[in-house]
Amino acid sequence: MPSQAAGAGYNSARVLNPSLPVTQPRILVTGGSGFLGRQVLDALSRRGYEHVEAPTHADYDLTDADQVAACVRDARPQIVIHMAAVVGGIGANQARPGEFFYQNLVMGAELMEQARRAGVAKFVAIGTICAYPKFTPVPFREEDLWAGYPEETNAPYGLAKKMLLVQAQAYRMQYGFDAIFLLPTNLYGPGDNFDPQSSHVIPALIRKCLEAVETGDSAISVWGTGQPTREFLYVRDCAEGIVAAMERYARPEPVNLGSGEEIRIADLARLIAEVCDFRGDIRFDPSQPDGQPRRKLDTSRALAAFDWQSTTSFREGLQATVDWYRTLRTTANPRYTRLAP
Ligand SMILES: NC(=O)c1ccc[n+]([C@@H]2O[C@H](COP(=O)([O-])OP(=O)(O)OC[C@H]3O[C@@H](n4cnc5c(N)ncnc54)[C@H](OP(=O)(O)O)[C@@H]3O)[C@@H](O)[C@H]2O)c1
Repeated sequence: MPSQAAGAGYNSARVLNPSLPVTQPRILVTGGSGFLGRQVLDALSRRGYEHVEAPTHADYDLTDADQVAACVRDARPQIVIHMAAVVGGIGANQARPGEFFYQNLVMGAELMEQARRAGVAKFVAIGTICAYPKFTPVPFREEDLWAGYPEETNAPYGLAKKMLLVQAQAYRMQYGFDAIFLLPTNLYGPGDNFDPQSSHVIPALIRKCLEAVETGDSAISVWGTGQPTREFLYVRDCAEGIVAAMERYARPEPVNLGSGEEIRIADLARLIAEVCDFRGDIRFDPSQPDGQPRRKLDTSRALAAFDWQSTTSFREGLQATVDWYRTLRTTANPRYTRLAP
């Protein structure tokens, strides 16, 4: 079978989870080569899971129904964690809304259907904060998910992923299928995508600041007015939350995964400049879109339902991200976009 045994190589550092059943479950992880996926594989390994399969995009194209069926047939999972997705910042969402909608919708729908047919015991679907309405009352509570249309620049992506929630609830109702749906806020951390064509705001700003320091540029440009707010979750904390939910959550209601901390983009840019030692001007470009006006999640359900909350402070997480990317730039081609942390 063309998939890789993803837990291999982690066993020496593993801490066995005393609550693991004697017979370990077979877990299929999609998107395991991605930014979040790699961290989820590490988190599973730390928890002592050994039978983890993480086939890559090259192994199975999950937008192809036959390949989805083959993937599930070959892996024979009892648990599926679905993270494969087409993902990007505002620019990528605006440039490729059709791909973001179709590929994310089809991957999720086909995979959950094949998992149900194969008798999978648990399906963990990863959604996104982009599923929330544009003007959700802050902090965003899961009950408000259907109170309006998402912000236009990321609506095709957000709605495609939101259909996983509808499918999960429908399958639970009709088939008793245990599918859960989690909504992570914007993630950041080592291993993020630093490609200027598709990156999210934190890696984009880190890259601009470090390049300006290297070239001696006296100013950087930041998309939008700087006025919107965002919430960011350290990717390793998110991975821990996903594994905690996989182990302890089995209800139809969606659950937010966030840090609960809100920061204005202008303040974020100043903080990143400080961490990157960039002392030049920060110029906002209001001709570029702002995206959603405010983002901050209510994270109380995750704490109550499966005892998870984020633990990494924003400053600490940013420093780790900048350190990782700095090392990458000095040890690899600076044009490089991704590498395992
Ligand atoms: N990053 C964030 O801030 C954020 C926030 C909230 C939720 N999420 C969710 O978290 C999940 C992971 O995001 P990420 O940031 O880790 O994205 P990522 O780094 O781009 O990883 C996406 C993964 O999906 C795989 N993939 C894409 N298309 C595929 C296909 N047709 N068939 C099989 N595999 C495919 C990619 O493989 P290739 O690279 O080989 O194509 C990659 O391994 C996604 O579901 C996303 O919606 C992310």
